[in-house]
Amino acid sequence: MNPIFDLLDQHRSIRKYKTNAVAPELVKSILHSGMRASTSGNMQFYSIIQSTHTDLKEKLYHAHGKQSMVRMAPIVLTFCCDLRRLQIWMDAYKAPGNFNNFISFLRGVIDVSLVAQNIAIAAESSCLGICYMGSTLMNAKKITEILKLPQLVIPVTSMVMGYPEESPKKIERLAYESIVHEEVYRDRSPKEVQDIYADRDKNTWERVSTNPQHASKLVDENIQNAAQFYAKTKYTPELLQQYSNDYIECLKKQFHQAIF
Ligand SMILES: Cc1cc2nc3c(=O)[nH]c(=O)nc-3n(C[C@H](O)[C@H](O)[C@H](O)COP(=O)(O)O)c2cc1C
Repeated sequence: MNPIFDLLDQHRSIRKYKTNAVAPELVKSILHSGMRASTSGNMQFYSIIQSTHTDLKEKLYHAHGKQSMVRMAPIVLTFCCDLRRLQIWMDAYKAPGNFNNFISFLRGVIDVSLVAQNIAIAAESSCLGICYMGSTLMNAKKITEILKLPQLVIPVTSMVMGYPEESPKKIERLAYESIVHEEVYRDRSPKEVQDIYADRDKNTWERVSTNPQHASKLVDENIQNAAQFYAKTKYTPELLQQYSNDYIECLKKQFHQAIF
């Protein structure tokens, strides 16, 4: 089999890390490989902030909702949409600044996500582990302050990286046929969708309903299945709206209000 297919197939998020440092030359090679990702118009609308100092990582740990891997992993990478470098280049040559808008932001988000995933693969191919940090979106304002991000730069996602101290089991994905549509989109019936999620429903519900930590919540909220658990605890409309408002506020601040 193609060794890259094998590597991709073996991916697991790592949340426990050895204290060993990662050789700076190796990190540099990994980031360098990552930056070979395709990029909109070859503009590279992104920057990557590499944080390794304990004090800084401690601040990021708090900003990431105290997720322990931020403290534990030797490297935290913050991936930012960066329209600033381009703007400075434009200004230097008296070219109009055409990039302070929503579509350029989206292009930056795509560019930086491609780089991040290339880096993830390069790291995993070097026996390192990674975990993305979605808390970046929820705490963008705080992270912007900690990392001193200037105008036209905003965090999109983060990744911790280091030598794994655990070997978690592989988490399965939804079936190929449920994700891939041939030629045009074919909407799935509610029954087909229930079948698609059947394993996940079963496994999640087993895990949640036997965890004493959730017991009172399940009774109080009359939660009877995995879908209700997600919607009524982890992803409530109030919480998601609050996160959305916070990110939009950060976006407006970083992009001079002009982005929408
Ligand atoms: C954008 C993004 C954000 C994520 N944020 C977090 C996070 O904040 N905390 C965490 O423990 N895992 C996070 N993850 C990891 C996912 O939980 C993980 O990829 C998923 O459960 C599948 O597990 P696997 O990566 O081991 O296959 C994130 C993954 C992605 C792609």
